Amino acid sequence: MAKTIAVLTSGGDAPGMNAAVRAVARAALSKGIKVYGVRRGYNGLLNGDVFEMNLRSVSDILSKGGTVLYTARSPEFNTKEGVKKAADNCRKLGIDGVVVIGGDGSFRGARDLTGEGIPCIGVPGTIDNDISSSDYTIGFDTAMNTAMEMIDKIRDTAQSHDRCSVVEVMGRRCGDIALEVGIAIGASAILVPEVPYDLKKDVIDVLLKNRETGKKHFIIVVAEGIGGIDGIVKEIEAQTGIETRGTVLGHVQRGGSPTLRDRVVASRMGYRAVELLEEGQSNRVVVMKDNHIVDYDISEALAMKKQFNIKLFNIAHEISI
Ligand code: F6P
Repeated sequence: MAKTIAVLTSGGDAPGMNAAVRAVARAALSKGIKVYGVRRGYNGLLNGDVFEMNLRSVSDILSKGGTVLYTARSPEFNTKEGVKKAADNCRKLGIDGVVVIGGDGSFRGARDLTGEGIPCIGVPGTIDNDISSSDYTIGFDTAMNTAMEMIDKIRDTAQSHDRCSVVEVMGRRCGDIALEVGIAIGASAILVPEVPYDLKKDVIDVLLKNRETGKKHFIIVVAEGIGGIDGIVKEIEAQTGIETRGTVLGHVQRGGSPTLRDRVVASRMGYRAVELLEEGQSNRVVVMKDNHIVDYDISEALAMKKQFNIKLFNIAHEISI
């Protein structure tokens, strides 16, 4: 049973991380557990950049994007010596449990720290929804809503000019943002890293066919993992004669006030992470499965393979005519 825990955010930030931090702090304090906030991910454990939290430390952060704990990717922590040092620092502070909010890379760190004797629990926080063990990651909904709003604006100008707009959304290895946003904004085509594509057949021919039935402006949504949109923009314009523009939405998708869904999921996951430490569990990751909050062994979770929703992808294409 943990008596003193710490919470940190690691890797790319995601809207809703603050809601998870708040839930961890409040759940711990309500259970009589002392809680430290750790700044800048695992770096904070290495440098001793931690502070004791009280009930008011997490006031007014629920609606804020980013992470009040700051975040970082820590090369030093990725070494054996780094993990040992972090574990020693935890012991010095009396920390006997750590909640790590981040992605798969952060969970590997949590597994290693557990291996050095500090029980860790992972909470999935990343806009990409690319954690294989979880149906949902904190930040995904907010990022998608931001992208949807941005692309609705792009459609206004594409429509005014009878243009094609190619929009790149985030997702380094995962096309989930592109898929759902593509459906939500009525994309003529969606390109994702999980499904090989043929530009002529899957995009150019679709645009030409749509044009024959009277369509005059088009949006193509491309996941970042496809590897850049410049070539696609040029090729579409050259082969169709449709004036084409490219937009990379970029980090706008990582910021902003979290949606209701992200706030609620983050609160549920953060709370469960503290319960697990209270129960004396370690090396677990809290995930969403079929709308239930469950937990898995981190190593087993890391070995899972993510299934892309090909059925939804096919529906998106069928109704994009
Ligand atoms: O992991 C989330 C993500 O937004 C990816 O989609 C993107 O490739 C990456 O982070 C960019 O991260 P950064 O600019 O912080 O290195």
